[in-house]
Amino acid sequence: KTITVGLIPGDGIGKEVIPAGVSVLNHVTKLPQFSDIKFNYIPLEAGWEAFTKYGEALPDSTVKSLQEDCDCALFGAVQSPTTKVEGYSSPIVKLRKEMGLYANIRPVKEVVPNGKFGKVDMCIVRENTEDLYIKKETTYTDSNGKKVADAIKRISETASENIMKIAVEIAAQKATLTGEKQKLTVVHKSNVLSQSDGLFRETCASVYKASPKEQQDKVIYNEQIVDSMVYKMIRDPSEFDFVVAPNLYGDILSDGAAALVGSLGLVPSCNVGKSIFIGEPCHGSAPDIAGQGIANPIATIRSTALMLEFMGYSEMAKVIDDAVDANIVEGAIKTPDLGGKNTLEDVLQDILKRIN
Ligand code: NAI
Ligand code: MG
Repeated sequence: KTITVGLIPGDGIGKEVIPAGVSVLNHVTKLPQFSDIKFNYIPLEAGWEAFTKYGEALPDSTVKSLQEDCDCALFGAVQSPTTKVEGYSSPIVKLRKEMGLYANIRPVKEVVPNGKFGKVDMCIVRENTEDLYIKKETTYTDSNGKKVADAIKRISETASENIMKIAVEIAAQKATLTGEKQKLTVVHKSNVLSQSDGLFRETCASVYKASPKEQQDKVIYNEQIVDSMVYKMIRDPSEFDFVVAPNLYGDILSDGAAALVGSLGLVPSCNVGKSIFIGEPCHGSAPDIAGQGIANPIATIRSTALMLEFMGYSEMAKVIDDAVDANIVEGAIKTPDLGGKNTLEDVLQDILKRIN
């Protein structure tokens, strides 16, 4: 069987880490048990560099190819300017929307026994299509001639239902797999935003109540206001299994959770929804280390495994994850973000050696 993978490296370290994901895919098919599978790649463009070349951060040809030619994809990272640039709009936000990828699943796991923050094994399920990321902003002047900027936060029943359904489903799956009930925490700020976050919270609660009994038996419903969520997550991350959140809180919480396991360079994600699965490291283009060959490839390698898992190739995913875990637990070969002196290539080679 041939699986066609769209490759969107993007900018900065995206260009360095995506080839590492490809090396892992090519390597894994050399194992006898997976020799009937072949990966075929289509290079695709998106990001700041694409914008400077074509005047578009997400060329139509990229979306078309993802829709028509690809079974799945790997997305690196794109660099977005912090000030407004006419015509530029973050391609990943647009891509998630156009492809109906309504969920971004971000597992964060400490694999070293007795890690600095104890047991961290949680999965952040981030809503991917709305909230403040609809980017409806306006700027005007007040009566004193001072500027004011408004941004619209959108929460819909449909998107909230979609995200909670998938959160309950994967939490129940994990419970089945591990034999342990999973706690699912709904994050919100409905004490202040009673209508928008209120709708999110209420919808999540209804979806849970309406889910099949066998799922409810495996998943414990919990709610947490976002600020105290941050506090609790840092104090005792072992309290959390699955966390479901609107787009912005989910974005922020997952970078925070990454710090608990040592580096953003370790945390993978998979965009999931109505079309294909797109694996994507949680980090950005990291301009501070780009071009030096020292970016940690693990977030991308794990994203590759996560993508395979969602596609139903769990055994292949496990072989890759086990190799990554072994590299981290041994701790001998690591990039500078983890306090090591090795390069991306050293880490990649060490992981490839362990895939068997
Ligand atoms: P960032 O995630 O790129 O970097 C934050 C810090 O983590 C930096 O010190 C960086 O060196 C480090 N880091 C990140 N990934 C690493 C890796 N694999 N190995 C080692 N260290 C790593 O976030 P930042 O600096 O705020 O944003 C940089 C650019 O990335 C911006 O233009 C931003 O818009 C973009 N960005 C893109 C995302 C995406 O494409 N999905 C997500 C987040 C940011
Ligand atoms: Mg982020």
